Amino acid sequence: MADSRPDYEVWDPLVRIGHWALAAGVALAWLTREGWRETHEWIGYATLVLVAARVVWGLAGPRYARFGQFVRSPAATLRYAGAVLKRGEPRHLGHNPLGAWMILALLAAVAATGFTGWLYTTDAYWETCMAG
Ligand code: HEM
Repeated sequence: MADSRPDYEVWDPLVRIGHWALAAGVALAWLTREGWRETHEWIGYATLVLVAARVVWGLAGPRYARFGQFVRSPAATLRYAGAVLKRGEPRHLGHNPLGAWMILALLAAVAATGFTGWLYTTDAYWETCMAG
């Protein structure tokens, strides 16, 4: 029998566009890592802007975009993981607690990659070898 529950749009357009733009940005940054330095740097900056925008949206965006809606405490997340292992996890509208921590980890990883990439361009960190 068909599901009679109404369709519900969980993620707003900004989350969706930002998500694919970030995925594309990381892929393009990887593809341009050699021989396309200036392009690579601009793509890297763009990914940093996308991460920053997602953080702002996670604090001030609509309900399902907010970290407060889906990030749960470590204890609650462990309980959820235990329920997953027993195949009895509750369903969530939006992100589940494990997915939430994965999102935070991915955003932090992209931010750290962009930040350390930028460090490459500075004299103080790694770009210039100290002679003699
Ligand atoms: C999502 C963002 C980024 C990703 C995924 C990324 C990825 C990479 C990768 C895979 C390499 C090659 C590393 C190696 O072979 O050791 C690289 C090198 C580099 N990246 Fe990025 N990067 C990002 C952002 C940035 C940013 C924001 C900058 C600077 C503004 C930057 C500047 C550089 C530089 C200068 C190099 C070294 C190029 C060389 O060897 O001459 N990257 N990046």
